[in-house]
Amino acid sequence: MKLIIATIKPFKLEEVREALTEIGVRGMMVTEIKGFGSQSGHTEIYRGAEYAVNFVPKIKLEIAVSAAMADQVVETITSTAKTGKIGDGKIFVLDIQQAVRVRTGETNDDAL
Ligand SMILES: Nc1ncnc2c1ncn2[C@@H]1O[C@H](COP(=O)(O)OP(=O)(O)O)[C@@H](O)[C@H]1O
Ligand SMILES: [Mg+2]
Repeated sequence: MKLIIATIKPFKLEEVREALTEIGVRGMMVTEIKGFGSQSGHTEIYRGAEYAVNFVPKIKLEIAVSAAMADQVVETITSTAKTGKIGDGKIFVLDIQQAVRVRTGETNDDAL
């Protein structure tokens, strides 16, 4: 199992959610966050003098999937969230040690 953590632009959330549902993703966590990347949030807001880091609103997605689905999920997020402009986000892929569906006690791939 893999945990895919992705930051995307907030206005892309609905499109990304729809695309992920279409490829069979059945659950995800969504959090409103603020963050910054390599531009430190500046050029996303204005061009000009840059003194301090600006935090820019983003959506963080956390999606647990079978290892076999991970590449497809990453590709779908990448193609759907991309505008080609700065601040399109980042995707990190981690290994999951264990998963449990609380209602049934199912574990690992069966719990996803
Ligand atoms: N190295 C990082 N570690 C954790 N989160 C990051 C990192 N880089 C970017 N992010 C998150 O992704 C969001 C979008 O980053 P983005 O501006 O697209 O990255 P970059 O400018 O480095 O290409 C940031 O607001 C932040 O929440
Ligand atoms: Mg950036």
